[in-house]
Amino acid sequence: MEIKFKDQLSLGVASAATQIEGGNCEHNWNDWYVKGNIKDHSDPARATDHYHLWKEDAELMALMKIKHYRMGIEWARICPEEGEADEEVIAHYREELQYLKEQGITVLLTIHHFTNPMWFEGKGAFTQKENIRYFLDFVKLVVNAFGDLVAEYITINEPNVYATNSYYFGEWPPGEKSLSRAVSVMSNLAVCHIEAYRMIHSIRESMGYQDTKVSFANHVRVFDPQNPGNPWHCICAKLLDWFFQGAVTEAISTGNFRWPLKRSRDISHGEYLDFIAINYYTRSTVSGFGDGVRQDAPKNDLGWEIYPEGLVRCTDHIYQLLKRPIYITENGTCDNQDAFRSKYIYEHLKVIRESNLPITRYYHWCFCDNFEWVEGESARFGLIHVNYETQKRTIKTSGRFYTGMIEENGISE
Ligand code: NOJ
Repeated sequence: MEIKFKDQLSLGVASAATQIEGGNCEHNWNDWYVKGNIKDHSDPARATDHYHLWKEDAELMALMKIKHYRMGIEWARICPEEGEADEEVIAHYREELQYLKEQGITVLLTIHHFTNPMWFEGKGAFTQKENIRYFLDFVKLVVNAFGDLVAEYITINEPNVYATNSYYFGEWPPGEKSLSRAVSVMSNLAVCHIEAYRMIHSIRESMGYQDTKVSFANHVRVFDPQNPGNPWHCICAKLLDWFFQGAVTEAISTGNFRWPLKRSRDISHGEYLDFIAINYYTRSTVSGFGDGVRQDAPKNDLGWEIYPEGLVRCTDHIYQLLKRPIYITENGTCDNQDAFRSKYIYEHLKVIRESNLPITRYYHWCFCDNFEWVEGESARFGLIHVNYETQKRTIKTSGRFYTGMIEENGISE
């Protein structure tokens, strides 16, 4: 079987600052590690030491023919104390961004990807609407510092995952278990995105740029009833879908806050997305208000169902609502032996190819193995293998397969 991409689809890779950079930063995940909450006890201060090895990584990317890179910056590193900005860190990121540009790699920059500086966490982070201004101050700083080098931004990564894991399931810092808190966080993050969207456009416009593109990375998954003939399963699937992604997608994208979200500022209905950004991994099989997986389904090393068709099902739903060009800002799998990652990539790109959706970018998660939050270093998602002891990078079979797809604009089986 052969797949050839439509001209419009470009393949890239994604990462996030905290998951690769390493170094001792005063952020909430460092605190979570110190409190003993990482399953394999790995320390985010190690990660892949990308903060020092960024040039080697950029060269590897160029070697792999990668032209699009979604990357993050660490708020706690840029602003270790309230009201302060570390000029050396800003200069460091500028050097990296400049170098990537010279390699012909276009950056999509993520401003917030799950981590907060401890001074911000101490104020209650996004649980308090008064704290929205701290995030917006950071956005302003970022765009003033990097706006000449970066045209495309993701304001917030996966607001629904951040809010529910941190404030409802209590599995991520600060470990709270309150539905109303999780709802407040989602509401406040929606406001953060909308105001950041306007701010990024207006700052770059004042710099003379007309090519700004802004979105938020929306984690979507399919919620299917375990037994479609069981009304309870069907109701739970619908409610979970609405709570986890329906309401937040609508609020952030259009300013239309509906139950259970609450608008905390005067925001008009409008359009706050230049492209639809989708992070897709799996499907949940629902028989109540928990997470389930079909027993007979193919699964990855974390037990997540591998369900390529879900990518198009979820994306189509959002496209019908918002009608924007689509970037798949994350898709990938935990495959510690790199045994099925190439097949995973092939199958997901195949469903993209066969759909009629205007998907113009696909960023594979992840460029390299990395610190996978509570799973630590044990869950490997990379196209590049990282030996954490030596920090040696080795391109995996799937990495070579991916390069082949980029070179041939498709692949034959
Ligand atoms: C989505 C998150 O954005 C990323 O940080 C994480 O590593 C991947 N999912 C895999 O779990």
